[in-house]
Amino acid sequence: MKIAIDGPAGSGKSTVARALAGKCGVTYLDTGAMYRSVTVACLETGTDVADAEAVAKLAQDAKIEFGTAADGTQTVALNGRDVTAAIRTPQTDRNVSAVSAIPAVREAMVAQQRAIAGQKDVVAEGRDIGTVVFPDAEVKVFLTADPKARAHRRAVQREGGDAAKDPAATADAAQEQQILADLERRDKLDSSREVAPLKPAEDAVHIDSSALSVDEVVAQIMALIDAAKKPAEPAAAYTPAAAETPAADKPAPKPAAKKAEKPAAKKPEKPAAPAGPMRPFHGNSFDDYYDHAMRDYPWNTRGFIGFAVGVVGGVTKVLWPWRIEDGQKLWKAEGGRVIVMNHVSMLEPVIMVVTEWVHGRRARAVYKSEFDKAKPLTWLFSRAGAFPVERGTADMKVVRRAREALKRGEDVLIYPEGTRIKSDDQEVTLHAGFALMAQLAKVPVLPVAIVGARDITTPTRKFPHFHRVFVKVGDPITFAELNVKGRKQQAKAMEKAAMDRVYGLRAELRQEHPGKE
Ligand code: DC
Repeated sequence: MKIAIDGPAGSGKSTVARALAGKCGVTYLDTGAMYRSVTVACLETGTDVADAEAVAKLAQDAKIEFGTAADGTQTVALNGRDVTAAIRTPQTDRNVSAVSAIPAVREAMVAQQRAIAGQKDVVAEGRDIGTVVFPDAEVKVFLTADPKARAHRRAVQREGGDAAKDPAATADAAQEQQILADLERRDKLDSSREVAPLKPAEDAVHIDSSALSVDEVVAQIMALIDAAKKPAEPAAAYTPAAAETPAADKPAPKPAAKKAEKPAAKKPEKPAAPAGPMRPFHGNSFDDYYDHAMRDYPWNTRGFIGFAVGVVGGVTKVLWPWRIEDGQKLWKAEGGRVIVMNHVSMLEPVIMVVTEWVHGRRARAVYKSEFDKAKPLTWLFSRAGAFPVERGTADMKVVRRAREALKRGEDVLIYPEGTRIKSDDQEVTLHAGFALMAQLAKVPVLPVAIVGARDITTPTRKFPHFHRVFVKVGDPITFAELNVKGRKQQAKAMEKAAMDRVYGLRAELRQEHPGKE
C-alpha cells in the first residue's frame, strides 16, 4: 500500500509519516530530504541555484540513499557521503525552494522516489506525492496547520524541544517571527511554482493539525488506512446499456460521502501503475507502452516519436494548413483531461497528438481495436502512446488504463463518434465510455471540434485535397458544474454536455468559415 502525505513546511508531515511507517512496519520516504540533498550539492559546489541547467546536472548525478543511525534516526547520504546535518541548515532552507522548482530536478527526483519505493509499501511525504509521484496511492492525506502553529513548532524544535509533546514549550520570539516569515515565503514559492506545485490531490483527505497532537493525527490516518484495506463493494460493471437505464428504475443515489469523514474504500484488484523508466531494447510489450507514463518510455522510443512528430506535423501542416483557435485551453493546463472531438478524418488525431507533444503535454489517443489487425500500426500507435478499445463492449481494462493515464496528468483523446463521419446525415452511435473515464479519474472533459477535414480522403478522390482546416477548443467541463447527483446520472449528463459542446463548437467554426464542413 502507498500512503501519501502532502502539505506545507512545518505541518507535521515528517513526524506523522515517520510514526505511521513505524506503526505499519513499512518504508518511510522523506522526499523533502531528497530536494534538500540536491541543494546541498549546489551549495558545496558553488553552483548558482538559478542556473537550472547546472542544478539539473547535479540532480541527475545525485544518488540519494536513506539509512538508519545507531539511535534509530534516519540518515541521508548523497553519492555515498552523509549529509544528514547539512540538509537541515538555514542556508539549505533558504535555497531549497528554488532548486525544487526546476522541472528537470523534479523529474530526476520523482524517478528516484519511484525506484526507492518500487513495489514496496511506503509512507511517503512531500508536496506532490498524491498528485504526481503516487497518484494511485490508496491513502492520500493533505496535512495543514495554521502558519503560526507551524512556526512555533519549528522554533521549539530548533531549540531542542518538541511542541507536540509539550504544549507549554516556548521559543525565542524573534526567532519564531523569522521562521514564520521563512515558512510563508517557502509556502508561496512551493504553491505557485509551475511544475508540481504544492496542492492537495482531489481525492486527498484534509487534516488540520493546528490543534491536534501527533498521536491524534496518526490515529486519524490509521483509520483511513484501515478503511482502505477493507474490500470495497464490487462496483457495477459499466455497460453502455446500463448507462441508458432510466434513473427512475434505479435505487436513489447515495449521498456523496464527505471526504474527511469517510474515505472511499479502494478496489483490492486495482492494478498498480508501472513505475520508473522503461529500458530501451528490452522486449517491452504493447501493454508496457499502454500502461507506462509516456515520459517513462525508453529514450530511443521518445527520440523516434519526437522525430515522427516533427515530420508528420510538418507534412500535414503543409498539406492541410491547420489552425487551432483558443489553443491555450488545450496546452496551458494542469493535470489530465479527457478530450472529445468530432471525427471526420485521420487528420484530427494527428493534429491533436502533434500539438500536445510540441507544447510538452502528452495525449493518449484511444483507437478502435480493428486497426490492430495490422501489427505495424499497433507497433506505431503504441509508441505514440495510443491504446486500442474493443468497441461495443464494456472494456473496463481500457477504462482503468485511461484513468491511470489521466491521473498521471496525461490527456486521453477520444472520438466518441467511433467511425469517421462523412456526412451530417450519417447515423451516429456515441461511444460513451469517455464520461466514465473522466469520472473515475476525477478530471474534466475538454470539448474540441474540427471543420474542413471531412473530404480530404474520400473514396472518389484518390489524391488528398489540400485545403485549410480549423480546430476550436472549448472550455473544460467539470462534473461539479453539471450539478447532477448519482454516478450514472452524472456520466450521462457529461456525455450529453460534452458532445453538445463539441457540436456547438463545430457550428461556430462553420459560421466563422463558411463552406467548411
Ligand atoms: O518537506 P521539506 O521542508 O523537507 O521540503 C523541502 C523543500 O523541498 C520544500 O521547500 C519543497 C520541496 N519539496 C518539493 O518540492 N516536493 C516534495 N515532494 C518535497 C519537498
